[in-house]
Amino acid sequence: MNTYATYRSLPPLAGLCSLAEASRPGLSVEQCVRRLKRYHYAFKRLHGIFIARLTAEPIYELKMVFSLHAHLCAEHTAALRNRVGEMREPPLGLEEAPDAALEILFDEILAAPTTDELLLGLYEVALPALEAALEKHREETNPLADQPTMRFCKFALLELDEMCTYGAQSIASVIAPETRQRAGAWMELLDACLAAAGNLDGTAELSGNVIDRQHSAKPFVFDSRPRRDERFPDSYNMGVNAEVFLYDEAMPPQAKTLMMFYKRLREIDVPEMMASIIAETPGKPWGYYRDLTRQLWDEARHAMMGEVGFASLNIDWPKDVMVNFTWSLALNTQLKPIERHAVLYFIEQGLMPKTGKRHEWEVGLASGNRLSALFQDYDWADEVLHSRVGRDWYVKEIGDPKKAADYGDACWSRVLMDWNKYREEGLTQHRNWWPDAYCAACKTWGVEPDAKVLAYDTSYQSVRADLKNLSTSA
Ligand SMILES: [Fe+2]
Ligand SMILES: [Fe+2]
Ligand SMILES: [Fe+2]
Repeated sequence: MNTYATYRSLPPLAGLCSLAEASRPGLSVEQCVRRLKRYHYAFKRLHGIFIARLTAEPIYELKMVFSLHAHLCAEHTAALRNRVGEMREPPLGLEEAPDAALEILFDEILAAPTTDELLLGLYEVALPALEAALEKHREETNPLADQPTMRFCKFALLELDEMCTYGAQSIASVIAPETRQRAGAWMELLDACLAAAGNLDGTAELSGNVIDRQHSAKPFVFDSRPRRDERFPDSYNMGVNAEVFLYDEAMPPQAKTLMMFYKRLREIDVPEMMASIIAETPGKPWGYYRDLTRQLWDEARHAMMGEVGFASLNIDWPKDVMVNFTWSLALNTQLKPIERHAVLYFIEQGLMPKTGKRHEWEVGLASGNRLSALFQDYDWADEVLHSRVGRDWYVKEIGDPKKAADYGDACWSRVLMDWNKYREEGLTQHRNWWPDAYCAACKTWGVEPDAKVLAYDTSYQSVRADLKNLSTSA
């Protein structure tokens, strides 16, 4: 080996590593697969936790980051399933927990009693343990023989590092020292789980600890009621019908960009609803969870596009724009998971004709607001992808496109978003917030408000978002 040289000193081994590194014994296929199955389990459970805790998490920023981290975990889970399948092993046994103590670890984090404990368990215990395991794998495996796993680890570590960084920042922002103290004993329990499992990868000596479940002693129940933080003071407000305004040809494009930012931010309710479908539909192939979670993340991105739009116009959206949760609340509490998927598919099909997403993009272009045009351009592209996800999973399950669409329409017609009842019960006054938001935007634009736009006062009392007329008694 000492005298070995490559042709004209070209870097050896396709640049993967040195000859010395490629000569180390590394891990056998069997050892490698045993570890891969544990990484797979960890990513899968993390995905499930982010999804299960997203709907009822009140803090908007955390809802958004849970959406992203669920998506990333779903992608890495898929990559690991592929890799295990390449290692002389059909991807069998992937649905079982590889270790009882690891199972308790993730069950405990899933059942964390508050957001604070949830963040601590995820970002101070589980994700760092997974990161350490993948780093160790890169150090120990043979970089030539096991290059596909090395490559997986490299990309997964990039994102794990970003996830841990965000987690550390969020903990620093929201968790008080007393909380950390209060959670101390439980954090020790989580560490004890890892020790009993011989670390996440199972390579350390087993501690022999017997673990008593704490928060997970009772089975976890998914909480399907969406919650919002204090910046959403009027969550039942259905006072401004965005769609009627958007399709009114008499209204000018510039004002419509404002309404489209509202529509985007309101998409926050799609992750809240989709999380309930994913959490309450067990037993599907991984591709289902992966595709639906990608879609869920896109919807979160669209909401953040709305947030950026309002910020760009200097609009204080929590004060001037009432972002409701009536859609996710109604669907999650009134329909079965397949019925929710049916409604989603039906609505997204309706976005595809010329009057839907293309129209929004054209309005963005016509307005001269380049940010609005850009966001609508990508929103449209993403929604086309979502239609395909709907065809791949929901329509295939129903078996026929016509039946699938009709079923979606029927399910949505059954959903009760009772405008009058919300008001009677004092949940909202359906305040028309539009004039205030529009005036604030006009100030930024340096224009006088247009009287016709300012006078807009159509709510969702009698017209649904797809412009279908509702009987006013409903
Ligand atoms: Fe959407
Ligand atoms: Fe969208
Ligand atoms: Fe969508």
